Amino acid sequence: MKAKLFAASLAAILAGGAGAAGEGAKTSLLDRPAPNPENLPNDAYGKLVRYGHELTTRTFALIGPEVQDKEKRFAGNNLACTSCHQDNATKPYAMPWTGVSATFPQYRSREDSISTVEERVNGCMERSMNGRALPLDSPEMKAFVTYIHYLSRGIPIGAQLEGAGTKPTKVPERRADLAAGEALYGKTCAACHGMNGEGQRRGKVGDAEGYIFPPLWGNDTFNNGAGMNRLLTATRFVKHNMPQGTTHLTPVLNDEEAYDVVAYVLSKPRPIKASLDKDFPARWNKPVDAAFPPYVDGASADQHRYGPYPPLMEMAKQRAQARNAAVAPQKPAAEGAK
Ligand code: HEC
Ligand code: HEC
Repeated sequence: MKAKLFAASLAAILAGGAGAAGEGAKTSLLDRPAPNPENLPNDAYGKLVRYGHELTTRTFALIGPEVQDKEKRFAGNNLACTSCHQDNATKPYAMPWTGVSATFPQYRSREDSISTVEERVNGCMERSMNGRALPLDSPEMKAFVTYIHYLSRGIPIGAQLEGAGTKPTKVPERRADLAAGEALYGKTCAACHGMNGEGQRRGKVGDAEGYIFPPLWGNDTFNNGAGMNRLLTATRFVKHNMPQGTTHLTPVLNDEEAYDVVAYVLSKPRPIKASLDKDFPARWNKPVDAAFPPYVDGASADQHRYGPYPPLMEMAKQRAQARNAAVAPQKPAAEGAK
């Protein structure tokens, strides 16, 4: 019995570590029932999960720029985490948090280092929420991390998740068409998000009640360093999640339409994040749609903002290959070779 177990784990180790630690285990989020934090007991864990859930759905009311307690004004806009991370941050292909506790710590090119869950939360605090970082020992950070942990329960560490992040789209071989995007915006987005991208408040300015329909541009939304400000990332999100009610199974826009309408949205002004030149310090792995300087490949700012991306992706692939060759372990010289 023992010997058998040992043989099994040895086989797993030889196969590249899969097995015992769950590394590489495939887990689908597509039909996973969303857990309900109300069912947790009223103990310390249950309470913190519920606080995390509330922070996620009512961010504006608890740590937004209009809350009474000035010390708690961590977010710089009146969005909620769920303005993007839909369905309590459990919707497949809307950057669900399910499994995040199992996939972090992970290497992130934006920092060129290993990031923890806490750092990832603060990544969105400083960019998507245009605010400041939550202190690691704050009740709010602990609540976010605990809520993420709760959503991730049962997912093996190192799992490969289906339904995580955003679902890929085919990248058009052309620059985005802003005029076509503007027309589409008027037809398919403006009814909720407003002709000027201003969204629709639940109440009035200053009441910390947030939005029914969140703003897409202007002062009260994500800043230019956010993942949603990248055209390819936002295209994937919008195609599979917008207009409201859309899922990856029922897209309303096709790949080209999503690309054009998002380009129009991202052509509009939004808050500016300081020191973006410090992002992606390794440079060789800066994403092609990160539309802020420095541009490492000699292509124009306009092309990084609006495409066409396939030529930039080809250059990026070559940079990555060159870099990988440079850091690959040296093979011992063949015998007799000089
Ligand atoms: C404007 C949209 C937006 C808002 C609002 C937002 N995020 Fe995000 N978030 C994203 C995008 C886009 C990604 C993934 C792309 C990337 O890595 O840049 C992401 C990724 C994440 C991840 C990692 C998910 C994974 O699969 O690795 C976490 C955790 C996260 N966000 C936490 C938060 C928290 C906490 C809040 C609220 C305080 C928040 N986000 C608000 C857009 C948003
Ligand atoms: C029926 C109303 C409705 C329509 C139409 C709609 N949205 Fe949204 N949108 C929402 C709501 C509500 C949210 C917040 C997330 C949620 O609750 O589902 C949102 C969130 C977003 C977000 C992320 C949050 C933010 O503030 O940036 C983006 C980006 C977005 N929508 C883009 C679009 C685009 C582009 C279109 C048109 C193709 C569109 N939406 C059409 C209701 C709508």
